[in-house]
Amino acid sequence: MKKPSVVSFLITLLLAAAVCIQGSEPVKDTDGNPLIDRTKYFIQPVKTKSNNGGGLVPAATNILPFCPLGITQTLLPYQPGLPVSFHLPLGAKHTVVTSFPVNIYFESNIWPVCNEFSKFWEVDDSKSVSGELPVVIGGKRFADNSRFEIEKAGENTYKLTTLYGTVGAIPGAWLSAPQLIVTNDTSKTLLVKFSKVDDVTTDDTSTSREEKLALRMFPFY
Ligand SMILES: *[C@@H]1O[C@H](CO)[C@@H](O)[C@H](O)[C@H]1NC(C)=O
Repeated sequence: MKKPSVVSFLITLLLAAAVCIQGSEPVKDTDGNPLIDRTKYFIQPVKTKSNNGGGLVPAATNILPFCPLGITQTLLPYQPGLPVSFHLPLGAKHTVVTSFPVNIYFESNIWPVCNEFSKFWEVDDSKSVSGELPVVIGGKRFADNSRFEIEKAGENTYKLTTLYGTVGAIPGAWLSAPQLIVTNDTSKTLLVKFSKVDDVTTDDTSTSREEKLALRMFPFY
């Protein structure tokens, strides 16, 4: 009696896996190499008419309370922002593929405020900023609102989607630096590229110099 149910369970599992993998392809960085799990990358917004292409940094997007932090683009397009890493579900292969859940984690040792929150990204589904849900820091590894998927939008160019809509940018509270939100309005979609943090040239000192520079842009740091 037990055997058939185990077999059918396995078949179901295989079918589910096949459905999940279908349509997936490796996500590529700006050099055309596949994105690797738990490796540092800069998420580089693509510069457009409505977007300055500034790098991504955690930032207070509310006055009080200012935790959890939101995510803002730097006003200066040549600043890369803070690196992130992608964390795949347990048991997944080490390559990040499209249409597959990932957690996104800010890789920084300099984190002066809101330390009680994790460095994982999440969609804050409890409040809206001009009708859209903010992307904030303080996610949980396996929670639905911390789940992102990477979708192809062009040559080595991607967008980030969530169960609530697509990640986009709107003018934020500080000097109108674009703030990351989740939206169904395609005119606000944030297109991004992934650039691998070069471990050879970026030693610890220059990484922390970058980080300090990125963080100094914002009030409360
Ligand atoms: C986007 O549309 C979906 C489906 O209609 C809805 O569930 C979701 O709340 C919408 N998201 C936003 C940010 O308005």
